[in-house]
Amino acid sequence: MQRMEKHTQTMAGHWLKLLVCSLMMMNTQVRGSNDVEFTFLESAVSKGAVCLNGSPPAYSYVKGYGEGASNWVVFLEGGGWCHSKRNCQYRAKSMMGSSLTRGNKTAFSGLLYKDKLFNPDFYNWNKVFIVYCDGSSFMSDIEEVDPETNVTYRGARIFNAVMEDLLAKGMKDAKNAVLAGTSAGGLATILHCDYFRGLIPNASRVKCISDSGFFIHAKNLPGAKQREDYYANIVATHRLANFLPASCSSKMNASLCLFPENLVGDIQTPLFILESAFDSFQIDHNYMTLAFNSTPEWNECNTNLTRCTSTQIQNIKDFRVAFIETLQKLDNRTSSRGMFVHSCYLHGHIFMNEEWSCSSVVGHNVLENKTIAKAIGDWYFDRSSFQHIDTTNDVPRNCTSTLTSEELCKECIHQLN
Ligand SMILES: *[C@@H]1O[C@H](CO)[C@@H](O)[C@H](O)[C@H]1NC(C)=O
Ligand SMILES: *[C@@H]1O[C@H](CO)[C@@H](O)[C@H](O)[C@H]1NC(C)=O
Ligand SMILES: *[C@@H]1O[C@H](CO)[C@@H](O)[C@H](O)[C@H]1NC(C)=O
Ligand SMILES: *[C@@H]1O[C@H](CO)[C@@H](O)[C@H](O)[C@H]1NC(C)=O
Ligand SMILES: *[C@@H]1O[C@H](CO)[C@@H](O)[C@H](O)[C@H]1NC(C)=O
Ligand SMILES: *[C@@H]1O[C@H](CO)[C@@H](O)[C@H](O)[C@H]1NC(C)=O
Ligand SMILES: *[C@@H]1O[C@H](CO)[C@@H](O)[C@H](O)[C@H]1NC(C)=O
Ligand SMILES: *[C@@H]1O[C@H](CO)[C@@H](O)[C@H](O)[C@H]1NC(C)=O
Repeated sequence: MQRMEKHTQTMAGHWLKLLVCSLMMMNTQVRGSNDVEFTFLESAVSKGAVCLNGSPPAYSYVKGYGEGASNWVVFLEGGGWCHSKRNCQYRAKSMMGSSLTRGNKTAFSGLLYKDKLFNPDFYNWNKVFIVYCDGSSFMSDIEEVDPETNVTYRGARIFNAVMEDLLAKGMKDAKNAVLAGTSAGGLATILHCDYFRGLIPNASRVKCISDSGFFIHAKNLPGAKQREDYYANIVATHRLANFLPASCSSKMNASLCLFPENLVGDIQTPLFILESAFDSFQIDHNYMTLAFNSTPEWNECNTNLTRCTSTQIQNIKDFRVAFIETLQKLDNRTSSRGMFVHSCYLHGHIFMNEEWSCSSVVGHNVLENKTIAKAIGDWYFDRSSFQHIDTTNDVPRNCTSTLTSEELCKECIHQLN
């Protein structure tokens, strides 16, 4: 009898959830997001915390509630870097160098999504998205404005000013906290992780999640010198040498200290590394383009894997081997490190419901039967550790879903149950 009731309840819940996918408003939930207005930190401008073009820092914030009221998740936006004076001047005039050209709102999804069904561990937390407009992974701090270009290099000041504001908003009393970011924001997460921890010493659980932020040096692959120069130019342009972690810069030329392989061994705070061993940005930009230049043939392959030549597939496979070797060389004795390294050809996951909650549906991107959201949630709350690399698929998979939003939603909800 009891079993019957339980079954009936479960079935009712199931139909309710399927109904969710069919409702007009909810129809787009899986591929959906909720908009959150910008807060501009005008008061930080006098402290010199400004974007490349001099505009104020901006972030989007949603207050936590219920059990999430004293928990904070802070997300750092990504979007590459600028690596020369000219390049930064150009960036200052583009969307990525200003806070005023972003439509004044952020579409929250994935880790920052409001819906418990798709984001069960973090939906009711205080949620913050920090706009990236400094081109240095929130690291630069040059006092003078470049007189030739009027560009300001102040990423670290932006980070500090926003943190100060959030601490005052209640983050100083956080019980649980997460610093996360994707791509250049994932690198920023690695660079700021211990500092963030230090801001809230009384919090009981603070962890960092770097999504697609593990840019490898790949010393033994073609283009090693070009990759070195590329990141060295970022360090030089933003004069980061003195601001990069001393644990790295005391051991080697600081220009190598944007490669996370030289950083993560010294991070004290638990860190989760989420990335594809076939990270599409690194393969496209840091490997194929920097080593071999971009050709129309490569572009065909990069946008449609079924068109890759056997040589191109071999290059891609070589990258994967180097990527996995780099990770395996890390000191991973600490069980506090998390790792979800898969084989879908993509870059960036946690700010998209599809990749975050529905990775089991989208290309069946699961490891140990866990979606990305489940693996990270379990790791964060110490329900179970998670350190897995897909060592079976040695060719890149195209995991982009061709399902309609409604199909995807139903399929995803079915698997979430
Ligand atoms: C965004 O806000 C800024 C500052 O409040 C304002 O100057 C600008 O016009 C707004 N832009 C849009 C697209 O609403
Ligand atoms: C820098 O700003 C000054 C003052 O607004 C302006 O006169 C000058 O043309 C600007 N220079 C460049 C390179 O934009
Ligand atoms: C941490 O807690 C102690 C004891 O309650 C308190 O004195 C201290 O100010 C707190 N530190 C911060 C940074 O909030
Ligand atoms: C560090 O690397 C940069 C960039 O490659 C180079 O210009 C500089 O000379 C190096 N510094 C030392 C002390 O080797
Ligand atoms: C990818 O390339 C294959 C082979 O040329 C072609 O059949 C397919 O339509 C292409 N897919 C897309 C999405 O363009
Ligand atoms: C992956 O598949 C999707 C859908 O067919 C297609 O649009 C996309 O171009 C493909 N991407 C790659 C890298 O093959
Ligand atoms: C951890 O390190 C050991 C020894 O270097 C290696 O065999 C193993 O594959 C590593 N595990 C991960 C998940 O990187
Ligand atoms: C994953 O699920 C399948 C099917 O339910 C099961 O056979 C397998 O043991 C599971 N693997 C792990 C690692 O849990």
